[in-house]
Order: sequence, then C-alpha cells, then structure tokens
Amino acid sequence: MAGIHYKYLILGGGVSAGCAAREFVKLGVGPGNLAVISKEGVAPYERPALSKAYLFPQGAARLPGFHVCVGSGGERLLPEWYTEKGIDLILSTEIVKAELSNKTLTSAAGATFTYDNLVIATGSSVIKLTDFGVEGANANNILYLREIDDADKLVEVIQSKKNGKAVIVGGGYIGLELGATLKLNDLDVTMVYPEPWCMPRLFTAGIAAFYEGYYANKGIKIIKGTVAVGFESDVNGDVTAVKLKDGRVLDADIVVVGVGGRTSTTLFKGQIDEEKGGIKTDGFFKTSVPGVYAVGDVATFPLKLYNELRRVEHVDHARKSAEQAAKAIKAAEEGISIEEYDYLPYFYSRAFDLSWQFYGDNVGDTVLFGDSDPSSAKPKFGTYWIKDGNVIGAFLESGTPEENKAIAKVARLQPSAVDLEQLKNEGLSFASKL
Ligand code: FDA
Ligand code: NAD
Repeated sequence: MAGIHYKYLILGGGVSAGCAAREFVKLGVGPGNLAVISKEGVAPYERPALSKAYLFPQGAARLPGFHVCVGSGGERLLPEWYTEKGIDLILSTEIVKAELSNKTLTSAAGATFTYDNLVIATGSSVIKLTDFGVEGANANNILYLREIDDADKLVEVIQSKKNGKAVIVGGGYIGLELGATLKLNDLDVTMVYPEPWCMPRLFTAGIAAFYEGYYANKGIKIIKGTVAVGFESDVNGDVTAVKLKDGRVLDADIVVVGVGGRTSTTLFKGQIDEEKGGIKTDGFFKTSVPGVYAVGDVATFPLKLYNELRRVEHVDHARKSAEQAAKAIKAAEEGISIEEYDYLPYFYSRAFDLSWQFYGDNVGDTVLFGDSDPSSAKPKFGTYWIKDGNVIGAFLESGTPEENKAIAKVARLQPSAVDLEQLKNEGLSFASKL
C-alpha cells in the first residue's frame, strides 16, 4: 500500500521535533512538505515542565502554556501553528516499523509514510524496575515520568493520596526534582538511592552535601547506599511498602521511580550505525544512512570541544541539535556548507527555591567555592573542574543571569588555573573578570 509521502519527516513529537519544525519553516519549507509523527496526543511541549511546574499544588503549568519553544524564549508553537504552516502534525501515532532501505515507516494502525529526509527525534524512555524483575514492581501507584500522560497519572495519584507517604527510588534528576515537588504537595517523602551521594554523574560530594542538607531541612528523608528489592501491595493491588536491600521496609502510598532512561532506537537496530547507546552522527547530525538524521537524546555526535563522541540527554542540546540538522538538510539541498556543531554542554535544574546551571565537562580536580551551607538564608556556591591546569567545567547554584553567563564563558574559554587555593578564594570573581 502506497503511503503518504513527505519531503521531510520528523519522527518524534518532543522538544527536538518542535524545534526542528520551527527551523524548517524559518528556512522556507512550504506547506505539504513536512510532517511530525508522535505517539503522544499533544503538540511538542517543553518536557522539563513535567517534573517542575506541572506538579505544583497551586498555579500548576498546563498546556497550551508550555508548548515549544517557550523554554528558550521563543515563539509558542500551538497546534494551530502547524496547520497554518501546512505541516501535518500526526499525533497519537506510534511508528512500529522502520525500513530505512526503502524510506518507509509503518504505524501501529498500519499506515505507511515515506520520505526523502528523515529526522529521528524519538528521545528516551524510562527504565522500569519490572525490567530487572524487581518483586512486586507492577503494583498500582508505582509511577514513572517521561511523557505528559505519566504526569497526568502522577497528578491524579498525588491528589488521591493527600498527606500520604511517598518513596522516591533514584537519586538523579527525576529523584531530586520529584522529591521536591512531592514535598510541596505535602507528602511525607523518603528518597532511596544506591550511591554515596545524589546525582553522582554530575555532582561532587561537596555539591551533593548541600542539596542533601537542604532537602533534609525541608523534612525529606534520604536513605543512601541501598536499593529497592521488592514491593508489597494490598488486596486492590495498590502499593503499600518498599522493601530495601538492607532489610528496611518503608511504608508507601506512592512510589516514584527515576532510575535512568534508555534511548528509543530499537526501530532502527541493525539498520544504522550506533555508538555509546545512541545513533552515531557527524557534526551535522547525519547518520550512516543517506537522508537520515538523528537529534536530541538519541544522537551520539562529535563534541568538538572535547574531541570525543558523546550523547547528551538535556533540553538545550535537543533544541540546538534539531536546528543544526534542519539547517544541514537545507544547506545540502542548496549545495552550501554550514559550520559543524560546536556544542558547549549546558545542564540545569530547579527545585524548591533553588536553581543551578552547569557548563562544560565534569572531569579532573574540583574546587568548591562560596557559601554552600544548606541552612544559610541565601546560599550561593559553585564548583570548578580543572584538567591539565585549565578550568573546563563550572557549576553555580543561585547565579544571576550575568553570573551564569560568566561561568559559561569559563567553560568555553578554558582559562588556566594553576593555584587551586587561589581559585577557591577568587570563586565567582574568577569567572566574572574574564
Ligand atoms: P523527547 O523525549 O522530548 O521526545 C521524543 C518524542 O518521540 C516523544 O514525543 C515520544 O513520544 C516520541 N516517540 C518515541 N518513539 C516513537 C515512535 N516509535 N513513534 C512515534 N513517536 C515516538 N533537561 C534539561 O536540560 N533540563 C531540565 O530541567 C529537564 N527536565 C526534564 C524533566 C523530565 C520529566 C524529563 C523526562 C526530561 C527532562 N530533561 C531536562 C531532559 C530533556 O527533556 C530531554 O533531553 C529532551 O526532551 C530530549 O528531547 P528529544 O526531542 O530528543 O526527546
Ligand atoms: P539519572 O540517570 O539522572 O539518574 C538515575 C539514578 O537512578 C542514579 O543516580 C541512581 O541514583 C539511581 N539508580 C540506578 N539504579 C537504581 C536502583 N536499582 N535503585 C534505586 N536507584 C537506582 O536518570 P533519571 O533521574 O531517571 O532521569 C531520566 C532522564 O530524564 C535523563 O535523561 C535525565 O537527563 C532526564 N531529566 C533531566 C532533568 C534535568 O536536566 N534537569 C530533569 C529530569 C529528567
């Protein structure tokens, strides 16, 4: 059966997809040439809102308030925008088969779509405790968060378990952000994670000590160095307790699990080069298959600054990689060349009244500066990472926009810093004077 043909097809309806669509339009792609296919039922939105303002007890963010590209200060692309621009926004449509050799995608309902250029923007999905066969992990009210349907389910359960007990499994991004939002909803929150401190893939022990202290001051209990090995539930199948490996048992009305994600690339297995858990691309997000690009969480791309292939699971890269791919596709058609992607890693998070930003790379020696006392009225602190005598990464909690710009500049310029004691004493002024 002949499918619908598009010159440009974006697979995925997340942050990258929306940003790619906007860029294609900016570059002059006209009506009837572009489609976005998403298994979600809503137009692309700013996913970071789901673990923050979407879960607030009052004044919660709701669509259409946070469709892309408001997160980066851009135009809010309402569903009507796609119609006006002649873009087919094909929602609630899961692609279950991809045949890259004949440029065809097939949906669960059996519809086929063909393309000249495909942008893979399928993002990540959550790792579930049932994937490791954790006993009782399919009980009701053991929840995960990736898409808006998951967030709606969370809101429903939070409202039905007022003043109840919540256990958060995982001490990464989801763990820390959900720990805070559940506490704001007056739940009694306990966090459990296996590592000696939270967010070990970015935080140093010094950074983590601040957040753990701050959370403890808010009444959140933290149990480290152990994992959930089983769950108990009642006759209705609702979770009632979490069993830990160290033998403790925690009462629970809600469990939120954030134990990492995996890229959604199974559709393309064996058809495309992969690397480091993602689809391998060049600095234009071109994959090993002609006419196929990969962006956002799924792309393993050359990070020029560090001369290394990397994957980045954060929203700033989702936006910028999408724009770069659209530019590269149009440039190739016009026979012109564009600059290779030259990305400075940028991650951020917000919880309670806190807000941090990180730029660069987190390897080498570290220097903690500023006031990192969790009981301070206005804590402000940061960390530099120093490798081979140069500052290559910088973290700042509670920075002003100017100060955040300054630490970004440090990470980009990589100034030398030989005396670490002096760097500690200079703290933020080291960045500000650059
Ligand atoms: P994204 O996951 O946004 O979109 C993928 C889309 O593809 C989804 O719509 C999905 O349904 C669709 N899809 C997948 N397979 C499909 C198929 N077979 N058929 C059809 N559609 C399919 N980052 C950050 O820097 N700061 C932050 O504060 C946060 N906060 C945050 C909160 C939460 C709750 C999450 C889950 C993630 C974050 N992130 C973040 C990470 C950031 O949101 C993430 O890196 C980007 O959304 C990645 O964008 P992508 O477009 O690659 O995937
Ligand atoms: P993560 O990788 O940040 O953290 C996973 C955590 O799971 C680890 O730190 C560890 O503490 C814990 N863990 C691993 N195995 C465990 C086990 N068996 N039992 C208990 N804990 C275990 O992943 P996440 O927090 O699930 O986030 C998922 C995705 O969403 C990531 O791509 C992340 O980048 C993204 N996200 C980003 C932000 C942000 O950038 N602010 C916010 C939310 C989500």
